[in-house]
Amino acid sequence: MTGRGSPEDASARTGPVCLLTGATSGIGEVVAARLAAQGARVLLVGRSAERGAQTIERIHSMVPGADLRLYLSDLSRPAAVRHLATEVRASSDHLDVLINNAGAIFFVPTFTAEGNEATFALNVLAPFLLTELLLDRLELHHGRVVNVSSAAHRTAGLHLDDLDRARGYSAWGAYGQSKLALLMVTYEAARRHAGRGVTFNACHPGFIRSRFGDAGGTFSARGFRLAKRMFGLSAEHGADTPTYVATARELEGVTGRYFVQSRPHGSSRASRDREAAGRLWEICLDRTAAYRAPLP
Ligand SMILES: NC(=O)c1ccc[n+]([C@@H]2O[C@H](COP(=O)([O-])OP(=O)(O)OC[C@H]3O[C@@H](n4cnc5c(N)ncnc54)[C@H](OP(=O)(O)O)[C@@H]3O)[C@@H](O)[C@H]2O)c1
Repeated sequence: MTGRGSPEDASARTGPVCLLTGATSGIGEVVAARLAAQGARVLLVGRSAERGAQTIERIHSMVPGADLRLYLSDLSRPAAVRHLATEVRASSDHLDVLINNAGAIFFVPTFTAEGNEATFALNVLAPFLLTELLLDRLELHHGRVVNVSSAAHRTAGLHLDDLDRARGYSAWGAYGQSKLALLMVTYEAARRHAGRGVTFNACHPGFIRSRFGDAGGTFSARGFRLAKRMFGLSAEHGADTPTYVATARELEGVTGRYFVQSRPHGSSRASRDREAAGRLWEICLDRTAAYRAPLP
């Protein structure tokens, strides 16, 4: 399903091309609208055609003539991530920005058909794989990769020998670990791909009243929803930092940083463990090996 724009006219445009996952809700939808208002062609990724169509309608009502294109993909499945990358590559010869924003918490243990714990699959393996499959397209215009992590990365450790939490599952433990791992993957990408002209940064959007955590009937899920209603900030606030990191001129060439409230911020000690990041990177390579062959 598409908004305006077609593969044929993509090369005629001068605005940046931005790919944004998790664009059909919360923080992502507002980021998409802001990028569109800045003249970008926005490639929105979501799972539901209906929510996608509603998002496109809302953005068009705020930004008439917005150049939007919707892609449907369940990012917890690496084959779907590869299919998405194939579609994106067919419609755009380059990418200026990739924002890996889609993410979720799973209040009960959930596993994908590949055997990956779902939080790790969606919040870590998907952004890792999508970035690797699109890196050459990002290189063409000194692109930016922005990974939406979380302050929750501070609450968990990285269990390299039990990333799937087989030894005991806790939803917040799995979520915190996934956001820590995403941060470490961001730093490691900045090191491994240094010199390729692409920047890799991560951010925390704030505690936001979105649909995040809405599925799930456990005590913990209900408590979280109550806290969100009482203390959560707007999705507009949540969009500030990812949009800033994706577009600010003064961040040209800045890489391997973590941003909170649109400022560089220190991240946890565990996130800066280079040896663990290297091992995590190898695990990500291994778990996505069947889906990483170069694409045309
Ligand atoms: N809300 C907070 O307080 C908070 C704090 C720190 C970090 N974050 C992070 O911010 C990011 C955005 O969250 P949000 O608050 O805007 O949450 P949200 O309203 O729940 O939006 C999440 C987005 O991710 C998409 N998504 C979920 N599972 C997916 C899957 N399997 N495949 C493809 N897309 C999927 C959703 O698509 P559907 O429309 O199909 O569901 C939706 O567009 C997440 O990475 C989250 O971890 C949020």
